[in-house]
Amino acid sequence: MIFNKPTIKVLFLSAEVAPLAKVGGLGDVAGALPIALAKLGVDIRICLPFYGLIDRKKYSAKKIINGLSVSISNKNKLINVWQTFLPKTKIPVYLIEHSFFKGEKIYSGGRLMLNNKYTRKIDDLKKFTFFTRTVLEVTRKLNFQPDVIHTNDWHVALTADFIKTLNSKDDFFVNTKTLYTIHNLANQGITKPNIINFAKINKSLPIVKVDSQDGDVNFMVQGILGSNLVNTVSPTYAKEILTHYQGAELDNILIKRKKDLYGILNGIDTDFFNPEKDNLIKQKYSLKNLKQKTINKLALQKQLGLPVDKDIALVGLISRFVWQKGLDLFNEDFSKLNCQFVFLGTGQKEYEKILKDLAKKYPKKFSVQLAFDEKLAHLIYAGADIFLMPSRFEPCGLGQLIAMRYGTVPVVRATGGLADTVKEVKSGGGTGFVFDKYSSEAFYQKLNEALTVFYKKQQLWRQIQKTGMKQDFSWDKSAKKYFELYKKLIK
Ligand code: GLC
Repeated sequence: MIFNKPTIKVLFLSAEVAPLAKVGGLGDVAGALPIALAKLGVDIRICLPFYGLIDRKKYSAKKIINGLSVSISNKNKLINVWQTFLPKTKIPVYLIEHSFFKGEKIYSGGRLMLNNKYTRKIDDLKKFTFFTRTVLEVTRKLNFQPDVIHTNDWHVALTADFIKTLNSKDDFFVNTKTLYTIHNLANQGITKPNIINFAKINKSLPIVKVDSQDGDVNFMVQGILGSNLVNTVSPTYAKEILTHYQGAELDNILIKRKKDLYGILNGIDTDFFNPEKDNLIKQKYSLKNLKQKTINKLALQKQLGLPVDKDIALVGLISRFVWQKGLDLFNEDFSKLNCQFVFLGTGQKEYEKILKDLAKKYPKKFSVQLAFDEKLAHLIYAGADIFLMPSRFEPCGLGQLIAMRYGTVPVVRATGGLADTVKEVKSGGGTGFVFDKYSSEAFYQKLNEALTVFYKKQQLWRQIQKTGMKQDFSWDKSAKKYFELYKKLIK
């Protein structure tokens, strides 16, 4: 007799899910990885707060639960649940409706910077604590008993604590295991211990006791110590965060989980990011007619008001403008390089200023676009010759992967996922240019080296572009590794 292997049931939790609600790479991952996992046969379902910005009509959301009671703090709150699907798939997305989530922004509290670490205002911490708690009631109501709850970043990191608390009351979740994926260790979710009263988490859980001893509760710590397995988004970052330099003060906590800590590279949506089919760019192209790429460059230069010239190198950067991304490495010296620059993104004023000052002084060389603009982003990936990621740290990074797919050669710092995905040209068969030291000089020199190859060794340049375009950055490979982790959890 043939027995079908039972399907693994996974509940996937993230504060962002593209295209419904996205700020950065976390959203991209949450919108793409579940699709690749579903292809492997996983019964995967997603929960997301029904933020005010989610377009109910566009996603044809239907109400499936009305007035479900969830107990938090000393009250019972009523929520509604709406169901939609990830576009073009059968993967359900349950949208949790409550006034807590009504705000137009995903992260309502704004960012606070303390000792170069981000923390957030209390409303976001309460909001996501409540979200995490509601999710467990929703799955119960839907009678979906997950084998694994896959949680992403601090927002939903209390899942493990909630499960332990609920398991002392009944057995709905006794066989449910948790995987915690760290996308960025710098955002930790730190707040006062009274969040535990708000959440009604069992105060005698050892990790709650230990964490709150120093006067605060750190959601990231709860996720790392409380979950059954932990992973991050590249093998190198998984090693780096065990060191004092990259551990964001949690290296000692992470070392305790060393044997349960994995590094799995992110992929990209290779259908959406495909120069052969991309409707957002001026001219489609492929490996076979790479010369056509230049049409995008000319269109981009024109749109930005830079001198239109096919022979000058065009260097692009697309990013959130934050401490992590290495924008403070740019200085006036870069104006001496024989190239044009385009920067696209938004973020902290101090970094916007560094770039805007350069553009003001050298308008024919620097173009700075302070915006979140998907269409322009695609035109930059397609139209630029070189793509920059000089990050201070980078858990994975998606920009360099997209750039390579578009034949745009990355110049990156050797950190985290950048070190794992870009192979230095000098070592042969390379896909880009990689520098080590976090300094303006090292960055400048590497970019200069790339420009020299661009101008003087055109054949080699073509080869680098083509090698990059041939890399496989689809999700299929990585999804298999997540699937292995799920299997390890439930065996
Ligand atoms: C965060 C990290 C980035 C990573 C993304 C998705 O945004 O900073 O490196 O690619 O999460 O995992």
